Amino acid sequence: MLQTDTASWPDTPAFVLDAQAIQQSCDTLTYLRRESGCRVLYSIKALPFMPVLQWIQPYVDGFSVSSLFEAKLAHAVLTKEQSIHLSTPGIKTAEVDELIRVCSHISCNSLTQRQHFLSLPQQSVSVGLRVNPKLSFALDRRFDPCRLHSKLGVDINSINADSLLGISGLHVHTVFSERHYAPLLQTVAWLKQKLGRYFAQLQWLNLGGGYLIKQMRDQQAFIQLVKALREQYGLEVYIEPGKGVVGDAVILHATIIDCFHSDGKVIAVLDTSINHNPEVFEYQRQPEIAESHHGGRFSAILVGATCLAGDVFGEYHFEQAVKIGDRIRFTNVGAYTLVKANRFNGYNFPAIYGHTQGKFTVLKQYDYENYRQFWE
Ligand SMILES: Cc1ncc(COP(=O)(O)O)c(C=O)c1O
Repeated sequence: MLQTDTASWPDTPAFVLDAQAIQQSCDTLTYLRRESGCRVLYSIKALPFMPVLQWIQPYVDGFSVSSLFEAKLAHAVLTKEQSIHLSTPGIKTAEVDELIRVCSHISCNSLTQRQHFLSLPQQSVSVGLRVNPKLSFALDRRFDPCRLHSKLGVDINSINADSLLGISGLHVHTVFSERHYAPLLQTVAWLKQKLGRYFAQLQWLNLGGGYLIKQMRDQQAFIQLVKALREQYGLEVYIEPGKGVVGDAVILHATIIDCFHSDGKVIAVLDTSINHNPEVFEYQRQPEIAESHHGGRFSAILVGATCLAGDVFGEYHFEQAVKIGDRIRFTNVGAYTLVKANRFNGYNFPAIYGHTQGKFTVLKQYDYENYRQFWE
């Protein structure tokens, strides 16, 4: 097992933020901005941890947010020159005043939202429209914003000149964890075909997130696409990656705290659970671990510590039999893990550590008092 040099490793469970991986993401953002002229927003829903926001802030044009709280957090970190783009189906009337004070751009999710924002007296927010292009790329409809009866954006087929009156920009977001820009090229071609005649009256186009910006095999295709949109229509072009920026920057360290047999298989209980990575259960996805060995002779089912029978990470193969005290590291857990974490059964949140050049530093820890305060 990959268990060398473990003496300095943090107590578990622990989220470990890798400084080098975050910096590589920031360098990729710099490259994309420089080569294409695109504007980059980090989509903070993936991981709104303040030290991460502060790290990324100098490398972006702003943040994209999904709620008032996210908008306020973004506002606390960004400079006045940077922008905050909001898009959500869930805007409450009582929040509108604060939202328009904090956000620079709002992409309305429906024509009702559009009506509401355009009817407000004097305000400086740039009002856009989230367009649902009705082009499905995700095979799994749980991830597909373009699914039948979607709640995300205005159906492209229902948009006309009237719907775009007073609108400064368009916003699309159609994919999840994509490694090729082909869906984006197709989406933009479709947008141009359906709405291109209105582009000259717009200021910006937000192409959404969903692309793993560091792993793209066709960066040039993206660069050319953005350049063409800027040159042809004079549009400011935004992207808003989340997972692509932080996904590979966090490892969750856990320890095996019990081991036994159940119906002929080894069960290894961890001091973490799906509480710390709920998408494992939500989407029934087996997460990657650093210690597994494809074709290894020994196998074990890694399970979480809670009472939920389905709190199971999956069956893994190892070179040696696992035992109590062994460390397990879940890789690529930067996005949509900590932000969805909960304390079901009273299990604490993992501590958060930074990791630079072999050194681990505690950034945040939670204790019983935090837990008690939440329930008092
Ligand atoms: C509108 C919008 N923009 C950006 C993102 C960020 O996507 P990702 O983290 O996959 O890059 C999402 C994710 O749900 C989204 O809904």
